[in-house]
Amino acid sequence: MNNPVKGFSKLSKEGKMEWLIAHYFSGDSRALDTLKSYWHHDEKRQKLHDEFIENTLSNFYLPYGVAPNFKIDGKLYTLPMAIEESSVVAAAAKSASFWLARGGFKTTVVSTTKIGHVHFIYEGEHRQLERLFEENRSRFYKETEDITANMRARGGGITSLELKAKTDEIEHYFQLEAEFETCDSMGANFINSCLEQFATTLKAVMAEANAGEADEQLEIVMCILSNYTPECLVRSEVSCPVEQMADGEVSAEEFVRKFQRAVRIAEVEPYRATTHNKGIMNGIDAVVLATGNDFRAIEAACHTYASRKGRYSSLTHCEVKDGTFRFWIEVPLALGTVGGLTTLHPLVKFSLHMLDQPNAAELMGIIASSGLAQNFAALRALVTTGIQKGHMKMHLLNILNQLEATDEEKGTIIHYFKDKVVSHSAAVNKFCALRGIKSPAEVKKQP
Ligand code: MEV
Repeated sequence: MNNPVKGFSKLSKEGKMEWLIAHYFSGDSRALDTLKSYWHHDEKRQKLHDEFIENTLSNFYLPYGVAPNFKIDGKLYTLPMAIEESSVVAAAAKSASFWLARGGFKTTVVSTTKIGHVHFIYEGEHRQLERLFEENRSRFYKETEDITANMRARGGGITSLELKAKTDEIEHYFQLEAEFETCDSMGANFINSCLEQFATTLKAVMAEANAGEADEQLEIVMCILSNYTPECLVRSEVSCPVEQMADGEVSAEEFVRKFQRAVRIAEVEPYRATTHNKGIMNGIDAVVLATGNDFRAIEAACHTYASRKGRYSSLTHCEVKDGTFRFWIEVPLALGTVGGLTTLHPLVKFSLHMLDQPNAAELMGIIASSGLAQNFAALRALVTTGIQKGHMKMHLLNILNQLEATDEEKGTIIHYFKDKVVSHSAAVNKFCALRGIKSPAEVKKQP
């Protein structure tokens, strides 16, 4: 058992690595080589990455792929996707092409409001609190003016501030609930700074009403934005005449019937909804990451939104009306295209350039479409051929890489499986047959 380490963050990068290798790798320098092999050759660029977080030792690579042919609101996009899962980019590209021929994706930004709270306890008279809040409402805005100046100049700022009693849930619990328009920035720092100023103003207001003495009945618990942003909502939709929905051997009517049923199951069955939405997040997170946004915030918001009616449910919906198939997604996406990583990370800048420098609202539409495309591809496979056919084809390369197959072997084996079902054991067997060995363990014995 190791002893706790003191002052680790103050060690140099070399010092941190030395400590780690000594404690966890018995001083084996190959572990150090692994870390160093992922360093950027350009020292300046490595320093940029080092400074994103604390205790950086190396970089953790994810594949950065692109899915072309996304027609969104009449404009053609190639989507950047940062993701490790084999079949996601291929699925996105396949869906994009399918809908390209059927009018593409149409998006609507429903709202762009973000929200935050000062959570506090007040043990005094509720009426007195309400009265003081109302009397000082404009002061709350006034005392944030320095913080909001830039945002107001860009057309955003604080759009509402309310006092909310939550005393039914927790004794003496209140909130100042504020809404914000943060334009093209994600706005987390802006919102949190405003909230902390609201708390300061609240304490001052209460103290002034208490003959200048701090009001002991007031306790600020915390000031923080909410990642649940149901009022920062976007919709993306695809539609076409039912007869255009035939899929291989499956007739258009049958495909649509099966597809609709699959969506319906995800609407009512949380076990299925979770996997259904996970597939949607494959498409959403990959673009969120590639554009330098906070995928944990997006995940949290989407899943809360999926539960808003009291039961976890599908984020996508489907209907057939007057011979038209419609499939849509509605998701809260609080995104930024300025500030944060968007101005720092070279690949994020690359992504945004490729997307023609979208504003936050446009990026909401693009990312919602990526989620919808991913879900369409998954459901299409699930209700026809099954998911494993495409998935294992893409995963085959991972299996071959684990076996350390050569490029030539990979080519031969991929060709062999073109018209066959891929499984892990079938791939291993084929590899062994090609090498003339009984099991992959024999590879190690080969010269
Ligand atoms: C796999 O990452 C995602 C799927 O399971 C999604 C789904 O089942 O809808 C294929």
